[in-house]
Amino acid sequence: MQQRTDEAAGPGRYDAAPYLPRLNAGLAALRRAAADCHGCPLFEGASQTVFGAGDTRARLMLVGEEPGDQEDRAGEPFVGPAGRLLARATEDAGIDPDHTYLTNAVKHFKFTRPGGGKRRIHKSPTLREMSACRPWLDAELRQVAPEVVVTLGATAGRALLGSSFRVTRERGVLRPLPGADDGTRLVATIHPSAVLRADDSDRAAAYDGLVADLRVAVTALG
Ligand code: URA
Repeated sequence: MQQRTDEAAGPGRYDAAPYLPRLNAGLAALRRAAADCHGCPLFEGASQTVFGAGDTRARLMLVGEEPGDQEDRAGEPFVGPAGRLLARATEDAGIDPDHTYLTNAVKHFKFTRPGGGKRRIHKSPTLREMSACRPWLDAELRQVAPEVVVTLGATAGRALLGSSFRVTRERGVLRPLPGADDGTRLVATIHPSAVLRADDSDRAAAYDGLVADLRVAVTALG
């Protein structure tokens, strides 16, 4: 199916809020409701909603950008190469990846098909799509109530820290999660796919940087 762009979708408001179940619904109910979310046009091209997954009582929540091609097919976040690298980095930082909760700022895969072919190439979500999807992330934050949130990459960082966020400038620093009144803290880092994309000569340093940032989060858990 051809992906509609923001412009093609017209001036209507994008918002997932009407699709959320009543306040304080548990994660299972949220996941079921998210499956039917039409809060922005991204549902039209994607195979399914990819809701968060992992330890629902995790002290550490990892937030990526959006599901990729493999996640879109599987219906689970971070099951592809970036996810495998992230699991290794998490473990190297000192926390069992099974004890984390993984989610994304946007719950549908956004892509283009160059030349109209079969291949689906990831496209970053717009600010408008991120804002529309935000109620799901807020509901996950309320339900999981992590002590520390790690944003992975520029898009996830912008989703939680605002549009002026710059990952190179602001990564690796423990700070309050904006809007949280319960002491939840946040550390921003690079996206694991940036490690995969790095030149051979830079990859080890990029990986070590990711682990170092994750270690800031793990250390904050005490
Ligand atoms: N990249 C992301 O940001 N999220 C996923 O779930 C997979 C790849």
